[in-house]
Amino acid sequence: MTVELAPSILSANFARLGEEAKAALDGGGTVLHVDVMDGHFVPNITVGPLVVKSLRKTLPDATLDCHLMIEKPDDYIPAFAEAGASWISVHQEACVHLHRTLQLIESHGCKPAVVLNPATPVHMLDEVLDTVHHVLVMSVNPGFGAQQFIRGALHKIKTLAEVRDSLGLSFRIEVDGGIALDTVADVVRAGAELLVAGNAVFGHGNIRENAAKLLAAARSAALVRT
Ligand code: DX5
Ligand code: ZN
Repeated sequence: MTVELAPSILSANFARLGEEAKAALDGGGTVLHVDVMDGHFVPNITVGPLVVKSLRKTLPDATLDCHLMIEKPDDYIPAFAEAGASWISVHQEACVHLHRTLQLIESHGCKPAVVLNPATPVHMLDEVLDTVHHVLVMSVNPGFGAQQFIRGALHKIKTLAEVRDSLGLSFRIEVDGGIALDTVADVVRAGAELLVAGNAVFGHGNIRENAAKLLAAARSAALVRT
């Protein structure tokens, strides 16, 4: 499967969001990752459907990957779909009726996905792996950008890739948190294909060049993936 870069706007300058998002896509990003935080599920607050709607207006063809770090996601899924989300991911830890929530996302025309916090084992998803577009493995505790990569994510990515092969499934594997030039090769070799990066793309220097360099490093690691 192709390795793709998903720049996370969490580290962008929100006063220049459209322009910075475009620069990240010009640098080779193919998916724009939108971190939605409610101040309850995670100790931070970010953006909601209004910002997704603005991004959709400015970038009509972009794949908008909405990562919901919120309680009661069912209450907001219709609004994110209406605003123009392409993919919607919910946390396993936030969903009592995870299967129903994934069906709700699909019924609103978006690709459903599920996210695992660092402390949640992969087998919690055994019964929904055949219904998701992708699984997002958190490699930091969610809530903030620019945190240190948690290496325990690597074995979870490997396990997911093995389970996918053994069951003949087709979900994609995304990783989020601490992805930069010094960690990207390890996550790609472990089997991740959708690489979320916030600070490494938007945090400093030239956004387009940062994205291009990170994607190049990921693609060269993919060539030697065993
Ligand atoms: C963290 C968010 C991430 C965040 C990653 O809660 O889900 O998407 O933007 O940031 P970096 O790439 O800076 O670790
Ligand atoms: Zn995220």
